[in-house]
Amino acid sequence: MSLDFKLLFFPNLVQQPISTLHAALAVLFVVTCFFWLSPGGLAWALAKSVGGTVIPGPSGLPLLGLLRVFMGETPHRVLAKLAQTFRANKLMGFSVGLTRFVISSDPATAKEILGSPDFADRPVKESAYELLFHRAMGFAPYGEYWRNLRRISSTHLFCQKRLTGFEGFRRSVGLNMVKDFKSMMGEKGHVEVKKVLHFGSLNNVMMMVFGKCYEFLNGDDGNGVMLEELVSEGYELLGVFNWNDHFPVLGWMDLQAVRRRCRCLASKVNVFVGKIIEDHRVKRISGEYVAGETVGDFVDVLLDLEKENKLTDSDMIAVLWEMIFRGTDTVAILLEWVLARMVLHPDMQAKAQGEIDEVVGSRPVLDIDIPNLPYLQCIVKEALRLHPPGPLLSWARLAIRDVFIGDKLVPAGTTAMVNMWAITHNEDVWPEPDVFKPERFMEMERDVNIIGCDLRLAPFGAGRRVCPGKSMGLATVHLWFAQLLQGFQWVPCEEKPVDLSECLKLSMEMKSPLICKAVPRVVA
Ligand code: HEM
Repeated sequence: MSLDFKLLFFPNLVQQPISTLHAALAVLFVVTCFFWLSPGGLAWALAKSVGGTVIPGPSGLPLLGLLRVFMGETPHRVLAKLAQTFRANKLMGFSVGLTRFVISSDPATAKEILGSPDFADRPVKESAYELLFHRAMGFAPYGEYWRNLRRISSTHLFCQKRLTGFEGFRRSVGLNMVKDFKSMMGEKGHVEVKKVLHFGSLNNVMMMVFGKCYEFLNGDDGNGVMLEELVSEGYELLGVFNWNDHFPVLGWMDLQAVRRRCRCLASKVNVFVGKIIEDHRVKRISGEYVAGETVGDFVDVLLDLEKENKLTDSDMIAVLWEMIFRGTDTVAILLEWVLARMVLHPDMQAKAQGEIDEVVGSRPVLDIDIPNLPYLQCIVKEALRLHPPGPLLSWARLAIRDVFIGDKLVPAGTTAMVNMWAITHNEDVWPEPDVFKPERFMEMERDVNIIGCDLRLAPFGAGRRVCPGKSMGLATVHLWFAQLLQGFQWVPCEEKPVDLSECLKLSMEMKSPLICKAVPRVVA
């Protein structure tokens, strides 16, 4: 730009270059550098510091922090690498916009976080709030309401009596899946595993929760199709990275339309689930259901306790709807990984089938057979280790107050995560961590308890907010896996080799859904 030109258009700029603009730019530069270069980035630089040693961590991009990590497909892998680079396995701090995070990739520290009442809250994402999930168990603030829901569900939904009571239905869903795989194989010469598992799992949860099951593949009165649309839309909205959660200034613009879509979905869900609740009320009036005498579903349980626990209709809708989201995909996705491993490791598949043939023979598999199938259980454990459905333990925790982890101060309001994937892939914790080796659980690691006591492998989380559906999830995966192994030889499809790439959405899915052949087996 020539001097004449500057003089013509910006006379003031040329006359007072240093005093104002340059000084302002210099201040901006220094401030940006200060925030940017602070360990953990902007949100940590803005946190009040009251003591404790600095938590190491990457500053990320100016203003954005580690935003790009969460927009990618495998944030658990990137965060694991960063923790190594910054020697911050125990605790790493980072920012995404104005949200302050800590993450642990170390079993002992993870235990401290998950077990502490100071981390018993969850950060509520905008999508969860708009879908009314703050009234459901998973997102309800730690307190009386949450405790009440947890008590009701552990006494009435996740109790052993109900688990046993629903075995027959669980088994019939497994047998239907066998039928679906057979007919798909006949039609196409291969099977699309995810589709069948997803619908089977959805119906299983729908039956337990709503006492209803639906026809998805062949279409019924349209309700199955509508339910599937509502569930898919909910998964997408809960799984999407929402800028509004981390950049409050952008919130009102709702650039990704998450809020608008959530509100629209919430009103459809209210009508759909509201109708199911109404139908249950009608059955009570007509005497078809009598409390204490008829075996009901979870809607009946909530209606029985409605007055005593002061649950409104929208509370019930939130609680019921959340179960569908938590219970469906975790189970289907885990089983898809397990079957992918069977296709890749025919020797292990044959060993597990030998075990089933010996213990069960050709009669249908039952829940009571599972304790006698230790190798099959080890395969599931190993799949949970290598492919945990929630590598960052699904939904994070929130520090309720300022709390020390070792000598590091984590201020109230910080989002805390555990990188379970990093722990289960750390060679200091697991020998040959990348090798799929179910035998490890028959030998050295025979006693590893996966339901939250041993943080070397805690795919269901731990502490007060540990997954309440863990026994139900495991019982379902074990039974269906046994039924599918008894029924078929799982072999690769030449045109579609198994691809173990991951993609973290609401859960960690196979990026390329498993397509293979299911060849019927004949058991003597
Ligand atoms: C393979 C199956 C499953 C896996 C891997 C899994 C994993 C998890 C994880 C990691 C958490 C967070 C725990 C924490 O913060 O410490 C969680 C919470 C939860 N899960 Fe599961 N889950 C599974 C099945 C189920 C099923 C079948 C249901 C119910 C039908 C369910 C309902 C819930 C609920 C309601 C919560 C929230 C609990 C709370 O915040 O108090 N999950 N799950």
